[in-house]
Amino acid sequence: MTAPAPVDWEKLREAARDAMSRAYAPYSGYPVGVAALVDDGRMITGCNVENASYGIGLCAECGLVSQLAATGGGRLTHFTCVDGKGAALVPCGRCRQLLYEFGGPELVLETPDGLRTLDEMLPQAFGPQNLG
Ligand code: THU
Repeated sequence: MTAPAPVDWEKLREAARDAMSRAYAPYSGYPVGVAALVDDGRMITGCNVENASYGIGLCAECGLVSQLAATGGGRLTHFTCVDGKGAALVPCGRCRQLLYEFGGPELVLETPDGLRTLDEMLPQAFGPQNLG
């Protein structure tokens, strides 16, 4: 059996920065971009999309999970999130929950403190397993 190819975090971060450059964030002035690898090798991305009705703005992760489903589904394996300067950013609490649905506890996230599993970022997560 051959070992899986090492993850190219720089390439993933570049994809997140590219998505961030297309964010629609006129109200917060805080563009965010995300990118993830899927277990079949796909790379998917997302950016935040705000709204004049402030509370309904979409985080970048919303676009990412939508793209995941729309391009064939699968499981998220690796994830990165960047701010407007292109620096690593932690996903907000709601978005950790979005990621949990499709990546589970083993999803690996790039954070400002290095690589972390989603289990570390969202301990004792509520998920599909709780619904039986
Ligand atoms: N934002 C994201 O897109 N993802 C996160 O995980 C953190 C926050 C966006 C939401 C809003 O458009 C802007 O960042 C400022 O909160």
